[in-house]
Amino acid sequence: MASIELEASDRLETMRLLVDAELEALIENEIKNGSGQVAELCGSVLLAGGKRLRPLLILLAHEIAGGSDIEEIMPLALASEMIHTATLVHDDINDEASHRRGIETIHSRVGLPKAVIAGDWLFSQGFALGGRYDEVIVRILAQYCAELAVAEFEQLDHVLDLTTSPEDYLNIVRGKTAGPFAAGCHAAGLVAGLSELQASSLKRFGMELGIAFQLVDDLLDLRGDERMGKPRGADVIEGKMTLPLIHALTLSHGKERQRLAHIIENFTDDCFDELMALLNHSDSLHYAEILVRTHLERAIAALDIFPQSDAKALMLHVTDYVMLRHA
Ligand code: IPE
Ligand code: IPE
Ligand code: MG
Ligand code: MG
Ligand code: MG
Repeated sequence: MASIELEASDRLETMRLLVDAELEALIENEIKNGSGQVAELCGSVLLAGGKRLRPLLILLAHEIAGGSDIEEIMPLALASEMIHTATLVHDDINDEASHRRGIETIHSRVGLPKAVIAGDWLFSQGFALGGRYDEVIVRILAQYCAELAVAEFEQLDHVLDLTTSPEDYLNIVRGKTAGPFAAGCHAAGLVAGLSELQASSLKRFGMELGIAFQLVDDLLDLRGDERMGKPRGADVIEGKMTLPLIHALTLSHGKERQRLAHIIENFTDDCFDELMALLNHSDSLHYAEILVRTHLERAIAALDIFPQSDAKALMLHVTDYVMLRHA
């Protein structure tokens, strides 16, 4: 069993290195073609060590769907990573984040104007890659990017809104994180020749996995782990209403509820331990963990229609990774 696990992580690592090499070549080529500082800056964050989860899911979904030519799907996989990195550059501006992927964020290094443009450059590179596909695929890409923007607006409108409901939270997460996962898996299935109905199972897989992924991201932000490459508690400082906070606000009463609201509204790192004690008292981290498992189980069930294959086994390995990751 242990050796099968090892083999799966080795194979995923090989795929990840392949994606890295393609991204590196793309940036080198752009620098050579005169894109100068913007390509160098974007390259620094692009190549600083992302997990490459989105491109890996696209490659695996394509293979599960019967695709055998990796070159047919690689531009879509790269597009997803370029667009994702673009959203990170812009997200870090809005979230005033100092570090990303273990290095200083672009706006901290060269200021806002250039960071905004760097994000746009990454977006346009992503669309140039995704635009090589049939219209149906390009529409899927455009749709998820548009929905991501809507969700980020919604999230801003809910900053420090203590009445935010679990449904509000889930809608935001679907748009900003799970939608891109779902779109990538959906589009990869269509590129491999699946019918819309079959590809919709891959879309459901991506959506459920993406929800679990963001729930874990929000839990990691609270637990704090230096392996993340970004500081702990950033969400609370931003006033972002994540599920553990929403859950705790709903369950607590009287003085405890008042104290929790006060901490959320006036958060500094000094209050971190007290906040964690309040969240643990209402078992809110545990509640979020149970939801992670529920969404992962739904993700796995969505793959039931596909026959057993190496790619499917690797995809299941990725779902385990999402639950157990520390970064
Ligand atoms: C960060 O995504 C943004 C979220 C949706 C939580 P990742 O955690 O996939 O970031 P990288 O690509 O590995 O750096
Ligand atoms: C990011 O959500 C979603 C994006 C679309 C970029 P977060 O704001 O939680 O991402 P991190 O925690 O900064 O990576
Ligand atoms: Mg952020
Ligand atoms: Mg954000
Ligand atoms: Mg986060």
